[in-house]
Amino acid sequence: MMREAVLVFALCVLSLSVAQDCPLPTNPDIETVLPPLLVESDGPQSYSPNVTGSVQYVCLVQGSMIDTYNGVSLIARFTPNPGEPETSRILDMECGSGTWSGRTGSLDPPPPSAIDAPPRTDCYRCREGFGGDTRCRECSNVCNSGLMRCTGSGSTDCCLSFAANGQCNPTTNCTSSSGPNYVATESNNFTCTCNLTCSAGYTVNSDCTGCDFTSICDKDTPCMNGGQCIQYSPPDNYTCNCTGTGYEEELNCTDLILSPSPSPSLVLSSPPAPLPSPLFGASSPPSPSPSPICTVRYCDSCQNSSCCKTCSSGSYLNPDGCTCGKVEKAAQI
Ligand SMILES: *[C@@H]1O[C@H](CO)[C@@H](O)[C@H](O)[C@H]1NC(C)=O
Ligand SMILES: *[C@@H]1O[C@H](CO)[C@@H](O)[C@H](O)[C@H]1NC(C)=O
Ligand SMILES: *[C@@H]1O[C@H](CO)[C@@H](O)[C@H](O)[C@H]1NC(C)=O
Ligand SMILES: *[C@@H]1O[C@H](CO)[C@@H](O)[C@H](O)[C@H]1NC(C)=O
Ligand SMILES: *[C@@H]1O[C@H](CO)[C@@H](O)[C@H](O)[C@H]1NC(C)=O
Ligand SMILES: *[C@@H]1O[C@H](CO)[C@@H](O)[C@H](O)[C@H]1NC(C)=O
Ligand SMILES: *[C@@H]1O[C@H](CO)[C@@H](O)[C@H](O)[C@H]1NC(C)=O
Ligand SMILES: *[C@@H]1O[C@H](CO)[C@@H](O)[C@H](O)[C@H]1NC(C)=O
Repeated sequence: MMREAVLVFALCVLSLSVAQDCPLPTNPDIETVLPPLLVESDGPQSYSPNVTGSVQYVCLVQGSMIDTYNGVSLIARFTPNPGEPETSRILDMECGSGTWSGRTGSLDPPPPSAIDAPPRTDCYRCREGFGGDTRCRECSNVCNSGLMRCTGSGSTDCCLSFAANGQCNPTTNCTSSSGPNYVATESNNFTCTCNLTCSAGYTVNSDCTGCDFTSICDKDTPCMNGGQCIQYSPPDNYTCNCTGTGYEEELNCTDLILSPSPSPSLVLSSPPAPLPSPLFGASSPPSPSPSPICTVRYCDSCQNSSCCKTCSSGSYLNPDGCTCGKVEKAAQI
């Protein structure tokens, strides 16, 4: 019972605080608030106003969420009743529990200095009588950084940026509200966004604290000689598709496929006929005699039956220390 009561209470508080601020009023919103204001300013009759075109905001009071407002002053053009001449007026509107209402007494001809002036956004009240023609009661200068707005509840309740969920932040930068590497500038509408860039093969991690390794294929391009790299998970698991490259699947497409024509049996049973070897000129080219026999390709001398010690000219010892790789495709032809 107690828990339910607390929950209901929490939901009420939550919905109240969420419902408080309004998005900018639509023309129908303005048409709804105009009649009582017109009665007061133009006389007691019935009105069916039609707002024509878009309105000009003179003053905007930021709500606690992005794109919501607590109060506005605006200049609207409208016909008070169908067929009547269009008129232009300035009026104040206030948001309460998610609904706009007009402030009676605020409907005036627009002052020339307000016409086509950019809207004031550094206000915590937008009312006739405040701030001259702009109707702006200014935020305290403690809010004069970042977004340069306050939320309407008081002159020092600063709204300097928006968190990722759209909530106003009372902090100058996003570091404390969202985390390191978050920034809010005019170019992103003062919304704290992750501004970390990662090099190829890495992506920004979920909390914008660093870069996650994405793909060994992008990072290391391990497949040589035009082999296609196929990425699996985990990120360091991959294979090379060496089809059509002339190299074998193993060893990152660096192992030359032996031409089947000369004599396949010879290839597996003994080292290939030694090539003229200027690099290893010291050893006797015709036969590297005393070493054990192994079946490793391109091997000049073996360590044991399955491990090569010195690879033949034009090939090299692979990192496994026992096999030889050959990169010169031309040798095949
Ligand atoms: C309001 O004015 C516009 C443009 O003058 C017109 O198209 C529209 O029909 C009018 N709406 C009403 C409800 O009179
Ligand atoms: C952001 O704000 C924090 C705390 O408010 C401060 O320590 C930090 O220096 C600020 N960073 C920048 C870049 O202004
Ligand atoms: C900033 O807000 C304006 C008005 O809502 C919008 O037109 C614009 O696309 C937004 N820019 C960014 C980067 O979100
Ligand atoms: C992100 O950071 C880069 C480089 O530090 C900077 O040029 C860019 O303006 C930043 N973007 C935003 C939205 O602040
Ligand atoms: C690498 O991915 C393949 C294909 O998905 C899988 O069969 C293999 O078990 C993975 N290897 C490792 C070490 O995870
Ligand atoms: C390997 O590459 C060849 C030639 O590009 C292609 O035909 C084949 O489908 C590929 N195999 C795999 C498993 O991707
Ligand atoms: C294949 O390439 C990867 C990534 O560059 C490397 O770590 C690995 O040692 C290579 N394997 C062989 C057998 O050369
Ligand atoms: C051959 O030598 C290598 C490297 O010294 C060693 O790892 C391997 O176990 C040996 N194999 C045999 C069959 O003796």
